[in-house]
Amino acid sequence: MAKEKTSAVSGFYKLSREQKIGEVKEFSSLSEEQAALLLSASPLAPSAAEKTSENVLSVHSLPFSVATNFVINGKEMLVPMAIEEPSVVAAASFAAKLCRDTGGFSANADPPVMIGQIQIVGVKDASAVAAKLNAAASEILASAEPFAANITSYGGGLRGFSAKAIETARGSMAIAEFHVDVRDSMGANTVNTILEGAAPKIQEMAGGKVRLRIISNLAVLRMARATAIWRASTIGADAIEGILDAWAFADADIYRCATHNKGIMNGIDAVCIATGNDWRAVEAGAHSYAAISGTYRSLTRYRKLPNGDLQGEIELPLAVATIGGATRSLPSAGVALAILGVKGAGELACVIASVGLAQNFAAIRALSTEGIQRGHMELHAKNIAIAAGAAGGEVEKVASQMAAEKNINTKRAEEILKEMRK
Ligand code: MEV
Repeated sequence: MAKEKTSAVSGFYKLSREQKIGEVKEFSSLSEEQAALLLSASPLAPSAAEKTSENVLSVHSLPFSVATNFVINGKEMLVPMAIEEPSVVAAASFAAKLCRDTGGFSANADPPVMIGQIQIVGVKDASAVAAKLNAAASEILASAEPFAANITSYGGGLRGFSAKAIETARGSMAIAEFHVDVRDSMGANTVNTILEGAAPKIQEMAGGKVRLRIISNLAVLRMARATAIWRASTIGADAIEGILDAWAFADADIYRCATHNKGIMNGIDAVCIATGNDWRAVEAGAHSYAAISGTYRSLTRYRKLPNGDLQGEIELPLAVATIGGATRSLPSAGVALAILGVKGAGELACVIASVGLAQNFAAIRALSTEGIQRGHMELHAKNIAIAAGAAGGEVEKVASQMAAEKNINTKRAEEILKEMRK
């Protein structure tokens, strides 16, 4: 009988790296080449790196891991994460494990529509200019059509146009905005090409001077949402109260909320980086969306259900891609997408939103109960042991002794090592 496919791989963390890659290869039906790339010391050759940026000297590496236990929209998934911070992958996997008994995460994503902006300065009456452009929306869209031909041939294309007037430190301006369905790409190249193509027509109609023509990273038309239920019988009634208190603290206090949302982005960025996505764009979109009401708020929400279980939700703009850009130029990004087996950018956004929720749940559960330092320090101790020169089995021994002594620093690690090697 074929082995049932599950992301709850028991004892995964105890396997050797080679065994882990073997498990992932089987789970995601990776090719020999893809598995070999994971095994290789440097998945990105410096010669390839030189083609993607300027003045390249070397290649910067990050740990590339998978989070286990995820079930997203009924699908078992191992989630690739590129991150150096200890505990993040373990925390996401733990949160995902704790909601498997309620079916894991349910997520959805809007169609991939991005907003592109054209700035018009030097007009006498910006409101009148905006009204004129709005009245001519159909004509403007028709004239921009040739610049959208490529994305239109893939089923995307222009979806709307509107203009507004804004007051700024340099006087009033008219801002023209195009809405573009960018399909499975992030959309920056597509949108910026359309904007630069459409700008002369806008200039002609608006007068004044066109200046910026650029995509907006506040992708409010491209939102993703995820929700999950954690049972009181699984996590405990007190943990639920703690999580609700922690969430309320963040939602009411910007100093706490910055850290709360940072924890969410630990998971979101790690998946974006692993899959070659523009995590800076996702960060910008997430934080500006968190402040869209005028107050910086939590990207997640929690509530206690009538039966006492906890429901968590996340909603944020997620302009992510499964084609183009670094998803293609970074070989490990291709492998990350193969591990996920997602059908397109919308499904990837569902995964990323789920990981963000999992990360936040794990962080505030730990913070509101036992605290995060114990788990964090165990991993930190291993890093310190390695930095002090421990190798192989020594790492575990030196780390456990420092953790037991609650004295974790390089000097102590060196002393223990010296003692051990006598
Ligand atoms: C650390 O990288 C992330 C946390 O600070 C998040 C949080 O406080 O919610 C643990």
